[in-house]
Amino acid sequence: MTGHVELAPSILASDFAHLAEQVQAALAGGGTVVHVDVMDGHFVPNITIGPPVVKSLRKVTGAVLDCHLMIENPDLYIPEFAEAGADWISVHQEACRHLDRSIQLIHSFGKKAGVVLNPATPVDTLSEVLDVVDFVLVMSVNPGFGGQKFLRNALHKIRALAEIRATLGLNFRIEVDGGVALDTVEDVVKAGAEILVAGSAVFGGIGGIGSGGGSGGASAIEANARKLLQAARSAALLSA
Ligand code: DX5
Ligand code: ZN
Repeated sequence: MTGHVELAPSILASDFAHLAEQVQAALAGGGTVVHVDVMDGHFVPNITIGPPVVKSLRKVTGAVLDCHLMIENPDLYIPEFAEAGADWISVHQEACRHLDRSIQLIHSFGKKAGVVLNPATPVDTLSEVLDVVDFVLVMSVNPGFGGQKFLRNALHKIRALAEIRATLGLNFRIEVDGGVALDTVEDVVKAGAEILVAGSAVFGGIGGIGSGGGSGGASAIEANARKLLQAARSAALLSA
């Protein structure tokens, strides 16, 4: 797998009182995608942020804004996230009764559409949509919180997606989210992940709302991002 790897710092682990500064630091360290975790307290047992924060982020960065919707009835909110300035919008397979319709809705706003798989959801459930999605996000933790332990079953799912893509000649990209840090990054890249979401490994917080995340300070955040991306690039070269 020679795929170009990108780092997507997850702001969930940042200090929201210093959001712009911390995002800039993560981007200065080589991050190219800003991962925004949207939680509704129903689909996952946590509440985070919504379109107003995306709108504010849009004003301070030209980087890709990747909105991971961990919410029920995502179709109700996709238009607002699109209008707020999201570039990529992903919905959970488990939250969509009409997954193809949700993907079409995201595309109707000219945005890239992703589908997310919880740890217990098999890759097979996406066989009918892999030709219409722009990316698949494989969860390597159960969604809801940052700072959790990496679940290794994500690796065979990433490999399976890379294989299916090659066999069928498809173009979707593969993203991984949860527990990506210096000790797991090599494995996820070797398995075929190309977009690496990392919260606590970049911002240094433990990643939960109200947890006092982002304790690292701007220079530590920049250094964390740079180190993680370097490790990812070395792994990509090794597996090329
Ligand atoms: C979890 C979120 C993740 C989270 C990852 O539900 O989707 O994006 O921020 O945090 P870390 O990298 O700390 O596991
Ligand atoms: Zn996420």
